[in-house]
Amino acid sequence: MAVITNIEDLRVLYKKRVPKMFYDYADSGSWTEGTYRANEADFQSIKLRQRVAVNMENRTTATKMVGVEAKMPVAIAPVGLTGMQSADGEIKAAKAAEKFGIPFILSTMSICSIEDIAANTTAPFMFQLYMMRDREAMARMIDRCKVAKCSALVLTLDLQVIGQRHKDLKNGLTAPPRPTIANIINLSTKLRWCFGMLGTKRRSFGNLVGHVKGVSDMNSLAAWTNEQFDPRLSWEDVKWVKAQWGGKLILKGIQDVEDAKLAVETGADAIVVSNHGGRQLDGAESSIKALPPIVAAVGDQIEVWMDGGIRSGQDVLKAWALGAKGTLIGRAMVYGLGAMGEAGVTKALQIIHKELDVTMAFCGHTDIQTVDKTILQPGTF
Ligand code: GLV
Repeated sequence: MAVITNIEDLRVLYKKRVPKMFYDYADSGSWTEGTYRANEADFQSIKLRQRVAVNMENRTTATKMVGVEAKMPVAIAPVGLTGMQSADGEIKAAKAAEKFGIPFILSTMSICSIEDIAANTTAPFMFQLYMMRDREAMARMIDRCKVAKCSALVLTLDLQVIGQRHKDLKNGLTAPPRPTIANIINLSTKLRWCFGMLGTKRRSFGNLVGHVKGVSDMNSLAAWTNEQFDPRLSWEDVKWVKAQWGGKLILKGIQDVEDAKLAVETGADAIVVSNHGGRQLDGAESSIKALPPIVAAVGDQIEVWMDGGIRSGQDVLKAWALGAKGTLIGRAMVYGLGAMGEAGVTKALQIIHKELDVTMAFCGHTDIQTVDKTILQPGTF
């Protein structure tokens, strides 16, 4: 196998090794995928300022995200169906994150459960929550997070209804895949994946099945979101979640300055500037373009993070320079996981860290805490 030197190498290998429906699920956006593409592309136009003859010894990218130590300002994003990209995928990703020293966020729509992650890791992890119609089920889920000693709750605000992703509909996405002729033919070319899946019992939505009632198709993400997620979600509900939980709360899916101000009023600990990886409102601004006005409006009142389009350590540094105190990586993690399991996630983190560290040095800094907008070329952001 060719030497893996960047996240794109992992994506190429991932595409070979994982069934088409799960590759397509991860590597797509809604409708025209315009926002999905812009998330990545808009990082490219931001230019860095090269500085020279600065002592580059003893560099550090260490920081804290809502008080949690992080070897770099990166956490693993909550990604639905991660355990379909590789058997027990969330456990593998959480272990890689723990060993590397960055936070891991488990999705509500994960395959491995809150309890699975707690049993297989020692570092506290964060849990991403969707607001569901059934408030009792919500309260029970929040209690499970308390038992698991989660370090924070990440409440996603941008998925009351689901953005249409054409490929998922065409592929008939389910976890596990249904035994249709098209799926059987595709799976027969992914034997490594099949053997992995045969070796685990975790093949459906581990946080929900057996915990939440009344969904027509328990294996379909679309059925869960359409039937269970609460389209009436309001800022009052955010307060309800905050009170039920009592711990650190992060609000994910903020794209607008007005919403950022409302988020501050809830007393949350952080917000994530996000368009859900271009999977919800197609036509929305890229996250890196949405970030600066939000930082200008509320950055002195709340920790601002961002996600969407991060495929390199350079992207992390640019987001940090524009005021993001943390970034989340979803696809970069999934590419590594699907390519090589836990070792692939570790590889993705190493690649991003190295790119971040060396780029920081080229820009004339040895400590990420001293990096700000001045490393960017004026007029390019
Ligand atoms: C769910 O969170 C999704 O974006 O698929």
